Amino acid sequence: FETMWKIWLKYSSFYWDGVKNTLLVSFFAVLMGVCLGLLIAGGRMWKPANTDGSLKKTLKGVVRFLCTAYVEVLRATPLMVQVMIIYFGASAAGLKFSDTNFTILFWGLISVSLNSGAYLSEVIRSGIGAVEGGQLEAARAIGLTQGQAMRYVILPQAIRNILPALANEFVTMIKETSVLNMIGLHEIMFRAGDVRAATYRSLECYVIAAILYFIIVFPLSKLVAAFERRMSKSVTR
Ligand code: ARG
Repeated sequence: FETMWKIWLKYSSFYWDGVKNTLLVSFFAVLMGVCLGLLIAGGRMWKPANTDGSLKKTLKGVVRFLCTAYVEVLRATPLMVQVMIIYFGASAAGLKFSDTNFTILFWGLISVSLNSGAYLSEVIRSGIGAVEGGQLEAARAIGLTQGQAMRYVILPQAIRNILPALANEFVTMIKETSVLNMIGLHEIMFRAGDVRAATYRSLECYVIAAILYFIIVFPLSKLVAAFERRMSKSVTR
């Protein structure tokens, strides 16, 4: 413990930089993941206004297939593999910036966002699906169009299911972005590796990383759980 404390005192600035990057990447990954998730979920649930035209039917089928394939492929392969393929694929295609660290940050963020988007599209889809069916029928019965019913009746209720899951995704991403140390992004695990190389104290360096993750993730997940309870309580009338 004493060695660990000494390491912490001497190298805490490394760890703080890691914490900053972990939080930054996780936050933007969820933000971009939500946008992508909305698009994908929308694509999978999309019903063109009148489906009599065979062209529209084909289009609907293609959009659904592409969105479903996207979600299934990204959920059935490890995040680490996706990160590697996107990063090395991008550099093979010559898609890099003059600043290497920026290139790593850019493609790292893109890959975790693409992954998060796949998971979040399912969160959004099931959040919408969980709104009781009679709500849509009632909205249609009072003369709202499909789109209006979605906007004014279904989505406001679906938010209750989606918001806590979104906060949970942020908590998950804080842990999952640790794989980005594979491409050299300066998040917590990468910085722990730096300190390890400087001190030759592998165990201590990673225990410090674990403690930092715990200090961030544990209170945050309790907070989300409390928020989830409040959200579900407000539906009971
Ligand atoms: N660790 C798993 C994987 O590599 C889960 C990824 C979870 N991703 C998410 N956005 N919730 O595939």
